[in-house]
Amino acid sequence: MAPQIDPDRLLGDLKTLRSFGACGTGVVRRSFSEADMAARRWLAGRMAEAGLAARIDGVGNVIGRSPNAGRALLMGSHTDTQPRGGWLDGALGVIYALEVARALAEDPASARLPLDIASWMDEEGSYLGCLGSASFTETLDDDTIRAATDRDGRSVAEALAAAGLAGEAPARLEPARHGAYLEAHIEQGPLLEAEGKRLGVVTSIVGVRTFALTFSGQQNHAGTTPMALRRDAGDALLVLAGELRAALRGLLAERTVFTIGRVVFDPGAESIIPGRAEMSLQIRDADEAQLDRMAAAVQDLVEAADATGPVRVALSESSGLESAAMDPGLQDHLAAAAERHAPGDWMRMPSGAAHDAQIFARRLPSAMLFVPSIGGISHDFAEDTAEADIVLGCRVLADAAARVLEELNRA
Ligand code: GLV
Ligand code: MN
Ligand code: MN
Repeated sequence: MAPQIDPDRLLGDLKTLRSFGACGTGVVRRSFSEADMAARRWLAGRMAEAGLAARIDGVGNVIGRSPNAGRALLMGSHTDTQPRGGWLDGALGVIYALEVARALAEDPASARLPLDIASWMDEEGSYLGCLGSASFTETLDDDTIRAATDRDGRSVAEALAAAGLAGEAPARLEPARHGAYLEAHIEQGPLLEAEGKRLGVVTSIVGVRTFALTFSGQQNHAGTTPMALRRDAGDALLVLAGELRAALRGLLAERTVFTIGRVVFDPGAESIIPGRAEMSLQIRDADEAQLDRMAAAVQDLVEAADATGPVRVALSESSGLESAAMDPGLQDHLAAAAERHAPGDWMRMPSGAAHDAQIFARRLPSAMLFVPSIGGISHDFAEDTAEADIVLGCRVLADAAARVLEELNRA
């Protein structure tokens, strides 16, 4: 029989975590904020109560290490949020991992299996997306991580010092111990609901390229400066944004998406011609070659706009995440557990959202389980999932985790 989760304990902990940074129905808990650090300390306490060796490491990851020996399964997600985030994005997978650890410990058949769990720092990229899992897997070096800055120019090194973590060593993946990574998450999109399914087994995770475009013109008086003499950075941004949208729409593959999520006119006043403007442009697709094609089109259009003037335009890639395929064997474990608990109510699907699992996939077999998002809404205060689906997802994950651990530790 599969380890038994406790639905009340699971939902109780999810709701407690929601209270850190609660804002109406949503949560504002950006990496290293007071609410974020308070949530991390609470989580470390809950991990310790579950019998795990709990610590907050030198980049802010909360790690609960099992005292059991053997080939370990690693499970986790993140507890930081977007600037206006939902209560389940990341939180669900972290509290699932905690509940599965407790369920395994309470099950005589599984109590000696090693499950390590974690909340990875800054998945949402307030400083640098997935920096906690990148630190743990050593796919990024410490100097790059510590030098990353937030919008206000505060570095990770400064944030760590302010959080009292300056003297802590980063925890690292232990190749001899860690045999697989599992992460559960809300879907954050409309596919499961549209198909009438309650569980998703993830096949691949999207690659993400995020660009910063900077426009440098001449700030001047909006009434006295003739149109022909202006070097209007805002106007140049709007024109290039239109060209980019048209060109990128012409290059879309089936699941390619792009978003202009942030535009700033400086100084941003009705009677001043903007002297400077900034724009973000993010492109996502699971196919890196498709991302290369889209990125090349962006570069060509930016170069042409810069050469034509009268405003200078600069392009930089502000962050990027490589796409990743999920491990077929782990997918099969999740699919089999889904079929045992919800026959016919699950499907395989790609992830259009980024996740720490795509960082782990570069180092060890990794897979993900999704539960539906009501109305397909996420990265918004309205984000939610039916309680029955939350409980079902955790049951399936506990079942799959026990089987994966048994397989990892088969002599
Ligand atoms: C992660 O939250 C993403 O932006 O996909
Ligand atoms: Mn998110
Ligand atoms: Mn997330």
